[in-house]
Amino acid sequence: MSKTKAKTKQAAASAPAATSPNIDIGITTGDRKKIAEGLSRFLADSYTLYLKTHNFHWNVTGPMFNSLHTMFETQYTEQWTALDEIAERIRALGYNAPGSYGEFVRLSSIQEESGADGVPGWQGMVKQLVSGNEAVCRTARKVLKTADDAGDDPSVDLLTQRLQTHEKYAWMLRSLLE
Ligand SMILES: [Fe+2]
Repeated sequence: MSKTKAKTKQAAASAPAATSPNIDIGITTGDRKKIAEGLSRFLADSYTLYLKTHNFHWNVTGPMFNSLHTMFETQYTEQWTALDEIAERIRALGYNAPGSYGEFVRLSSIQEESGADGVPGWQGMVKQLVSGNEAVCRTARKVLKTADDAGDDPSVDLLTQRLQTHEKYAWMLRSLLE
């Protein structure tokens, strides 16, 4: 396969499939596609962080067990609900939402953490969750800019809410290490 062909194939693989190519909600097709691509990356980051938080809820040990077990549960439960909102926003823009582990690994900027093979100590877990929440914020900011430039207020609203939440989680988790 030529380099160009390989690149085209890779680009096609990262673009969500349009399911309603003729919809007209006042956002150009090009902008809807760009926002859907950004939201797909944001969904992948959010899902990976959700899973990591749940993993650490299960596997945390040590003197901080009780408070961290509870704190992680509060966060992953809230994150789980938000995943649905993000995926359904992609659908409302006329694109398919990624929904498999393979897609999430490919699209996410956050590295997975295995559970059964061993996990870090509680401080390592908290550090990873600070980084994960910060990574989600960086992705959200990029997509928010794209959505704002296109006049896509519902996506801007959703991303603003997620930013507030993840910046708060990052602060709370960071405070445990100070
Ligand atoms: Fe539980």
